[in-house]
Order: sequence, then structure tokens, then C-alpha cells
Amino acid sequence: MKKKIIIIGIETSCDETAVSILRDNGKNRPEILSSVVSSQFEVHKNFGGVVPDLAARAHLDKIDIMTKKALKISKVSLKNIDAVAATAGPGLVVCLSVGLNFAKALSLSLKKPLIAINHLEGHALSPKLNFNIKYPYLLFLISGGHTQYLTVNKLGNYKRLGTTIDDALGEVFDKTAKLLNLGYPGGPKIEELAKTGNENRFALPKPIFNRGGSNLSFAGLKTAILRIKEYIKTDEDRKDLAASFQKTILEILYKKTKNAFEQYLKLYPKNRALIVAGGVAANKQIRLTLKKLCQEENFQIYFPDLNFCTDNAAMIALAGLERYKKKKFNNQNFEVNPRWQLDSKAKFMKGPGVKI
Ligand code: KG4
Ligand code: ZN
Repeated sequence: MKKKIIIIGIETSCDETAVSILRDNGKNRPEILSSVVSSQFEVHKNFGGVVPDLAARAHLDKIDIMTKKALKISKVSLKNIDAVAATAGPGLVVCLSVGLNFAKALSLSLKKPLIAINHLEGHALSPKLNFNIKYPYLLFLISGGHTQYLTVNKLGNYKRLGTTIDDALGEVFDKTAKLLNLGYPGGPKIEELAKTGNENRFALPKPIFNRGGSNLSFAGLKTAILRIKEYIKTDEDRKDLAASFQKTILEILYKKTKNAFEQYLKLYPKNRALIVAGGVAANKQIRLTLKKLCQEENFQIYFPDLNFCTDNAAMIALAGLERYKKKKFNNQNFEVNPRWQLDSKAKFMKGPGVKI
């Protein structure tokens, strides 16, 4: 019997040191033999955000341990690995370098191909760890660093339809949480507080809401919260602001995703499928809102399992597996790319003077 392909995936783009081992399963979803994540929550919690040098040091401390752990859980020995896949961008240079250099050394010593993975491609494919999904589909990527609508035409072929012109959605959750002294990462904390708050107490702005297309903007929302902050004194106030903030986000996402459907259907009228990926896709209210929209618009919707929404290495190994099958390998000279985009033709859209 032919040996099934086994890939090791390594992820260190930000504040998670993750290693995963996948085994190909023919045409169906791969088997996830192991997927281990070491989060740096304790390292950064007093800073309200990720400190790059501390993050890189923590990756260096953990990468070897996490690799051994993933191998042990999967009961796979290194000599059975067929390729080494590692995130090479986008992300923090010092962090990416730890994972990619480790992967290069592993690939050299095992004499197995190196596959450099775009972290966003990992997110784009992540629901395929749990579902059989065919190309093409519409991707809504909502993470701490990115907020984009993209058509995923096939592996490695993406077209951006819309993007945030300022902050990423996860960033707005984190910054709002910081203003409310809730700690980092803020997304889950806001979601929890919002459950018992009055979502109609504060009217917050929805920047570029009525503009056509699927570009998004959150900076004005953040500024409004900064202004309201001085009136926030009690736990009740905090809950109401969290609930009002989340409700505003839901309204923005409902409308902009509907606009993105229109853009997408012009390209692929028959493939009505939406994938929502990235850390913010863990938010239950966002899931419910987008599910409702998809029911109304007759779209299939897929979310990765909760543990594959936030950063993980299984999605990196999966992208590695798809690339391995197409013999898309990289050589030892491949360098980390902190600004690596999925759609290289898409215009840079951030900052003053950018036309949307
Ligand atoms: O994908 P991810 O793990 O890292 C990046 O690639 O950026 O996303 C992390 C982001 C953080 O901003 C975090 O606050 C947000 O995802 N997040 C959430 C939730 N869980 C994580 N945002 C809103 N609601 C959540 N439940
Ligand atoms: Zn991510």
C-alpha cells in the first residue's frame, strides 16, 4: 500500500507557538494527528498587546518542546515526515524568523522539502480541516491583523474584493477592551460582557456604512469609544458599552457581507459558499448574524472549529499538504515576508489620502 503523505506544520507569526502533524486521507479531509499550541497570554497580558521581542524569545524557548510534543501525540517519527511547512508571513519579522529558520533546519536535516506558507492562506483553508469544501468560495477573513473579503479561486489564487481601510476587526475588539481595562486579548472578554449589557444604550458611528462595496472602516468607532470612556464608571456601564459596541459591529458586518456577496456572485454566480475564518470568527454573535444572512441569501456557510479559528499549525500543515500535492516547494533562500498579501495585485488601502 502506498504510504500516505505526512506533513509537519509550524506557526510562529505572532504570539502562538504551534506545531501540527497531518496525514493525507486521499480525497477527503486529512487526519489531524496532532495540533499543539502554546499561547503567550501570560507574557503579554500586562502590555495590552504583543511585544515583538518578548514574543520571539518565547517562540525560541518553546519551538523545540512543542515539536517534540506534536511528534509524541501523533506517534509519528521524524523520518516518516514528507515535508516541512512553516508560516513565512505576514506577521512579526522576529517571530516569523524563529519558525521559518527552525523549519529550514528540519527540512535540511531530514532532506525533505520546505514549504513556505502564507499565514492568511492557512486561515483561508482552515475550515477544510473539518469540512469537504470545493473551490471557488468567498472568504471573510477576520483576525487580529486582517479584515478582508477575498475570492478563493483555487489554491494560491485570490482576489481581494474588500478590506478594512484602517484597523483590523480583532484590533478594534482588543483596543476597545483595553479602553475598558478588560485585558488582552479583548475579543472574548467583550463578547462575554456584552451578554448581559444593554445594546441600545450607546449610539456608535458606523464609518463608510452606506458606501457601496465591501471596504470597511473601524477607526471612527474606536475614537467614539475613547470619548465615551470618561462616562464609563460602573460594571453596568462597561457591559452596556460592550453590548452596544458588539451590536454596531454586527450591523456593519451584515451589510458589508451582503455587499461582498453581490461582488462575488458577479464572478461566481453558481458557487454560493462563504467561509468565515480568523480569530474573530470565534465570536458567537458574529457567527449567528452571518448564518442568518446566509440563510436569507441562500449561501452555504462554513466556520472552522473554534480551536482552528485562532492561530494554529493544523491550518499551516493543511496549506502545506495542498502545496505538496502540487509540488509547490520553496528553497532555503526563501525569506520571511512580514507584509505578504494573498492578492498581490490588490491596492494598498490604509492611511490618509487613500481613495476607497
Ligand atoms: O487569527 P488570530 O488568532 O490572530 C491573527 O492572525 O491576528 O486572531 C486574534 C484576534 C484577536 O484580536 C482576538 O481579540 C480576536 O481574534 N478574537 C475575538 C474572539 N476570540 C478571539 N474577537 C471577538 N470575539 C471573540 N470571541
Ligand atoms: Zn491568524
